[in-house]
Amino acid sequence: MSDWDELEALRIARTGQRIEDLFAAQADRATAFSASTQDLRLDYSKTLIDDAVRAALIGLCERTDLASRRDSMFSGAPINQTEGRAVLHTALRNLDGGPVEVDGQDVMPDVLQTLQRMRRFCDDVRSGVICGSGGTISDVVNIGIGGSDLGPAMAVRALAPYHDGPRCHFVSNVDAADIADCLRRLDPGRTLVIVASKTFTTIETMTNARTARAWMSMGGGDPLRQFAAVSTASDKTADFGIPPEQVFGFADWVGGRYSVWGPVGLALMLAIGPQAFDAFLRGGQAMDLHFQSAEWGENLPVLLALVGLWHHQVCGHATRAVLPYDQRLARLPAYLQQLEMESNGKRVAMDGAALNIASGPVVWGEPGTNGQHAFYQLIHQGTEIVPCEFLIAAQGHEPDLAHHHRLLIANCLAQSEALMRGRSLDQARAGLSGSGMQGEELERQARHRVFPGNRPSVTLIYPQLTPFMLGQIIALYEHRVFVEGVILGINSFDQWGVELGKEMATSLGPVVDGSQSAAGRNGSTMALVEFAHRHGAAD
Ligand code: F6P
Repeated sequence: MSDWDELEALRIARTGQRIEDLFAAQADRATAFSASTQDLRLDYSKTLIDDAVRAALIGLCERTDLASRRDSMFSGAPINQTEGRAVLHTALRNLDGGPVEVDGQDVMPDVLQTLQRMRRFCDDVRSGVICGSGGTISDVVNIGIGGSDLGPAMAVRALAPYHDGPRCHFVSNVDAADIADCLRRLDPGRTLVIVASKTFTTIETMTNARTARAWMSMGGGDPLRQFAAVSTASDKTADFGIPPEQVFGFADWVGGRYSVWGPVGLALMLAIGPQAFDAFLRGGQAMDLHFQSAEWGENLPVLLALVGLWHHQVCGHATRAVLPYDQRLARLPAYLQQLEMESNGKRVAMDGAALNIASGPVVWGEPGTNGQHAFYQLIHQGTEIVPCEFLIAAQGHEPDLAHHHRLLIANCLAQSEALMRGRSLDQARAGLSGSGMQGEELERQARHRVFPGNRPSVTLIYPQLTPFMLGQIIALYEHRVFVEGVILGINSFDQWGVELGKEMATSLGPVVDGSQSAAGRNGSTMALVEFAHRHGAAD
């Protein structure tokens, strides 16, 4: 019997099993199905995972040789086989670790030197040594997309209480609305633009970068002094006109969606300062050490991955909701969408053979409590089961408003408990009859008030969302994606699925601007182009 067949048999054998009954049968279930680092606790007890399921899931780690795959990644082996590259974002946070070799060469001296240059640059911008034509830098605009946007945008927002530098803004979409709405509010003489692009060819980023350069020149700013670049392509940053001392390079072994730890994190470092940025790196490094040393059954990234595999690949739940009870983590779901879906949304295994199991799930979410007043209805009573991941800190950053935070915690815990317990028809009837309803009307109404319950969730809880904690959480998710990829046999580090649309957009450009005929294209596309032209697209 294959591992997946065994898991399927375990799933079937648990049909009708209630999570609450697992708690009733095992007094210490909450502890037995939780794991922690020093200050981050993962509770997966509100799922149907029991000892036998967990053992079978851990068996997947053994049989896919997870330990040696993990060690290969950390040691710089070219595990991104379709691109022939190492995967070493972990080197960017290896602050006091040993050498890391790629092709026999230690990459750490370069990593640490670039980090030091970033620190100096940030100190100079923050202290006014580097300033714009109109005075000290008040605003930073990060122009990038995908991994060159989502990581820093998510982290800058998450760490707002630690901001003591210039205001940071993020422009990603080629939609002119994005850059126009951003620049409208800024002074070109006091703005620093960071063009963040690993390849420095991405059409959205380069279009926005040229628009920002023209805006700055026209407004009396100095694009030579007020532009910085973050890229692996120093020839292209030079062609764009960015002085080399304002270019921060990194190697191709840093994947875009894993790049916030290095130069792509420049906007974050400008916002929170080099010291707090170091704490963020140290949080990531702490999770690396945990991932490398903890037993599978105590290993947070491994457990999170196994819970995900159980829910999606075994139980067939199509999506996963990430529900941070932290308004400042509003961009975390979007960040995780790229991290997880670009990494593990693949239809072939490493060797090119068709995958014989579902690839990664759809990941989505919103902060609580807002989501409660929007889509939680479906999570509680819809016909689809949506495994949920809750994130909550014990403390907020507003001590004067601690009662808000207590309410936030109560809501978060209430949701996971409500999802698990549900409400039976009898309980619904009792509630209605207590409020005076009777007879047929009571029967009819009661059915709408039933919650099936038994809906799984995991909770991550931590003392406070500090830079160190955010680093741990992001590295936790990165390694979770890695573990899922290893077990599924996927290359989590390429993204060929984004290419076809890019090629077609390039070939459609001249059709949309009217310089080329749409004839011969798909009938629907031709009709849509014709409509766009009739309504001014090519004017
Ligand atoms: O289109 C997908 C992608 O290649 C992502 O993987 C990447 O993060 C993003 O585009 C941006 O790429 P770049 O940093 O090279 O501009």
